[in-house]
Amino acid sequence: MHRRLFLLILMDKSIILPVKSQCSLFLCQSYKYYFTEEPKTWDEAQHYCRERYKDLATVPNMKYMKTLYTNSTETQGNAWIGLYSISGKENRRWHWSLPGVEFHAEEMKWRAGEPNDEAGYLENCAGIDGSTGLLDIGCSNGYPFICYNEQNKSLHFNDSRKLWREAQSYCREHHTDLASGAEQLNEIFSKFKSSDKPRSWIGLFRDTWRWSDGSNYSYRHWRDVELILINESKNWDEAVNYCREHHRDLVSITSLEQQKLVQEKAKNANTSHIWLGLRYSCVLDLWFWVNDQLVCYKNWANETDTGDCNLAVAMETGGEHKWVEIDGI
Ligand SMILES: *[C@@H]1O[C@H](CO)[C@@H](O)[C@H](O)[C@H]1NC(C)=O
Ligand SMILES: *[C@@H]1O[C@H](CO)[C@@H](O)[C@H](O)[C@H]1NC(C)=O
Ligand SMILES: *[C@@H]1O[C@H](CO)[C@@H](O)[C@H](O)[C@H]1NC(C)=O
Ligand SMILES: *[C@@H]1O[C@H](CO)[C@@H](O)[C@H](O)[C@H]1NC(C)=O
Ligand SMILES: *[C@@H]1O[C@H](CO)[C@@H](O)[C@H](O)[C@H]1NC(C)=O
Ligand SMILES: *[C@@H]1O[C@H](CO)[C@@H](O)[C@H](O)[C@H]1NC(C)=O
Ligand SMILES: *[C@@H]1O[C@H](CO)[C@@H](O)[C@H](O)[C@H]1NC(C)=O
Repeated sequence: MHRRLFLLILMDKSIILPVKSQCSLFLCQSYKYYFTEEPKTWDEAQHYCRERYKDLATVPNMKYMKTLYTNSTETQGNAWIGLYSISGKENRRWHWSLPGVEFHAEEMKWRAGEPNDEAGYLENCAGIDGSTGLLDIGCSNGYPFICYNEQNKSLHFNDSRKLWREAQSYCREHHTDLASGAEQLNEIFSKFKSSDKPRSWIGLFRDTWRWSDGSNYSYRHWRDVELILINESKNWDEAVNYCREHHRDLVSITSLEQQKLVQEKAKNANTSHIWLGLRYSCVLDLWFWVNDQLVCYKNWANETDTGDCNLAVAMETGGEHKWVEIDGI
C-alpha cells in the first residue's frame, strides 16, 4: 500500500433507507463517486476522502463496478478504492459470493471439524461434499461447481472442474453467481441427498479484506490471473522488473493446480527453463514467492541448503517440469 497511484476515487454515501425487509442493503443505497488526480498513498487517500467527502470508494456490486470502470479508470489509469486487507488469518471473514446475501454463521452446515485449514495452508473457499456437509478447501483446487440463476431461481450443477475463482467468473457470466445463502444451501443439500454428485464449489469464501467505510459487502472483482510467456532471455532480476513494468509480476505457484497451468505455458518456450517468482532470502533464511506467499506446494528437482543468496528458481520447460535452483541472478 505504499505505492503512489495517480488517481483516487472518493465516495459519497446516501442514507440507508430504514427498510427492514428482504430488501438487501445494497439495493437501498446509492453511491456517487468523485475522482482526484493527486497522487497519494492509500493511507493519505483515505484521510483525504474522509475529510472532504465520506470515505474511499466502496463498490457493493457489479452495477457500481461498471459505473466506476466506465467513468474513470478505463481512461485514466489506476486509482485507489476503499478495500484494504488486515493481516492475520484469524481476521478472515466468510462471505457469500452473491452480493447482498449476508453471511450468518449459524446457518452453516459444516462437516464435523470443519473449517480447519486442513491442507496446511489457508483454505479460503468452501465446497459441499456429498450429503455430509461443507468444508473449507484451498481456492486453487479444481472442482465441479454450482451456479445460481436469478432469472428462473434455479441451481445449475456443472461437472467441469474449475478453480474457485474461475467457477465464480463462469457463473457470473452465464448465470448470476455461484450458489449463495442459506436457502440455496438447503436446496443443494436436499438434491445431494438423493444422488452421488461429486464434491463441488459453492459461493462461499473468506478473506481479510475490509471496506474502508465499515460496510460488509462481499463483492470482489479481482482481475483474472493471466499467464503470459515472455519469449526473451533475461536474468532473474531483469525478468522481475520486466514483468512488474509491463504486466503484474513473475508467476507464483502455490498449488498443484497452478503448477499445471504454468507447465502448459512453459511447453511453448524455446529455452530449457523459465523463471518462476521464487527467490531465496538470506536475511530471512527462507524461500519466498514474489507475491509474499510462503512455499507450501513444492516441486523441487534439487532443493539444496547452500545458503547462497543469489539463488532464484526456474521451471524446466520439458520433462516433469521440476523447479531448479539457478545461481547467478
Ligand atoms: C458516469 O458517466 C455517465 C455518463 O457521462 C453519467 O451519466 C453518470 O452519472 C456517471 N456516474 C457517476 C457515478 O459519476
Ligand atoms: C434458467 O436460465 C438459464 C439461463 O438463462 C438457462 O440456461 C436454464 O436452462 C434455465 N433453467 C430452467 C430450469 O429454466
Ligand atoms: C459447464 O461449464 C463448461 C465450461 O467449463 C461449459 O462448456 C458447459 O456447457 C457447462 N455445462 C453445463 C451443463 O452448463
Ligand atoms: C460484518 O460481519 C461481521 C461478521 O460476519 C459481523 O460481526 C459484523 O457485525 C458485520 N458488520 C456490519 C456493519 O454489518
Ligand atoms: C525464441 O524464439 C524467438 C522466435 O524465433 C526468438 O525471437 C527468441 O530470441 C528466442 N528466444 C531465445 C531465448 O532463444
Ligand atoms: C516462443 O518461441 C518459439 C520458437 O520460436 C515459438 O515456437 C513459440 O510459439 C513462442 N511462444 C510464444 C508464447 O510466443
Ligand atoms: C540444480 O539443478 C540444475 C539442473 O540440473 C543445475 O543446473 C543447478 O546448478 C542445480 N543447482 C544447485 C544449486 O545445485
